[in-house]
Amino acid sequence: MSALTFTSTTTTRRVGDDERARILAAPGFGRHFTDFMARARWTAEGSWGEAEILPYGPFEISPASAVLHYGQEIFEGLKAFRHADGSIWTFRPERNAERFQHSADRLALPHLPVEDFVASLRALVAADEPWVPQPEGETSLYLRPFMFANEEFLGVNSSAIADYYLIASPAGAYFPRGVQPLVVWVTDEYARAGAGGTGDAKCGGNYASSLLAKKQAAAQGADEVMFLDSESHTFVDELSGMNVFAITKDGRILTPSLTGSILEGVTRNSILRLAEDRGLEPVEQRLDFAELTSQIAAGEITEMFAAGTAAVITPIGELRAHGGSWTVADGGSGETTLSLREELTGIQYGRVPDRHGWLT
Ligand code: COI
Repeated sequence: MSALTFTSTTTTRRVGDDERARILAAPGFGRHFTDFMARARWTAEGSWGEAEILPYGPFEISPASAVLHYGQEIFEGLKAFRHADGSIWTFRPERNAERFQHSADRLALPHLPVEDFVASLRALVAADEPWVPQPEGETSLYLRPFMFANEEFLGVNSSAIADYYLIASPAGAYFPRGVQPLVVWVTDEYARAGAGGTGDAKCGGNYASSLLAKKQAAAQGADEVMFLDSESHTFVDELSGMNVFAITKDGRILTPSLTGSILEGVTRNSILRLAEDRGLEPVEQRLDFAELTSQIAAGEITEMFAAGTAAVITPIGELRAHGGSWTVADGGSGETTLSLREELTGIQYGRVPDRHGWLT
């Protein structure tokens, strides 16, 4: 049962019809925002207080707010898809809600009940309905729930006040080059997360710590950065904001196991299940980078891809590191990669039967 009701005080739209149509024709990723947002506050009384839908826009925050100093913040990412019949669906939102609770635990923030998380999605998508793109062209409405510590206090303590917001942004391809194969720079200098750290929580700090390495990747002509484990710099962890997969010639699909320093992606989990359904053997294990590159060189690994809500499934064509570069097969988009992408997006857009019951 949902305890929170996200009520709306206005129906006045911020963006005109023509401007919205122009944005929806080529949304890109993360640059445009809808008319409304959802908000709820965890108060010092230890409960969720007011919940509302209000116009999207800036809000005031104290310069002494805890989040600005100690980064006590978590977020999620999921999408709303319009089907050909006009209905609107989200993909496995309870998993995002549960992961949000897991992240909240790690960052010492309060739990938002799963029902309230889903209620906020329903309320915002209803208010922002015209922003959910038509299914052609695989655009969707990206939903970004987040929660941050908002107590005005400089002591290093878990905050007594937390604000939950949900904003929405029409989304096309995450990468500027679309689904073209990525070049991935493998950093031997930085790690994304360490043992006992926050790697399996979705918190802003993990992404902040990836940015310098991502800049270095760009300087090497790469689209993304791959992190290895922080202790031995031997095993593949993940990319800056997505999980990583490899497919072998003999029909295995490999992805790094959940060691605590990797985020458990909803897309990651879904791919493992779809792959198994089609007879591939899912293997979650520590992926030794040196072995991976020798298997690529020997033609035993025939495909690699990045996977996440924003990235969906994007082929990886080449790995680059200080020690060399490795082209995966012919550097193009692998057949199984594209067909898994087609199946996953097919379910999301209602073109393929949802046999796992993933749509809400
Ligand atoms: C997502 O895939 O939804 C994420 O949160 C990752 C971010 C890099 C956009």
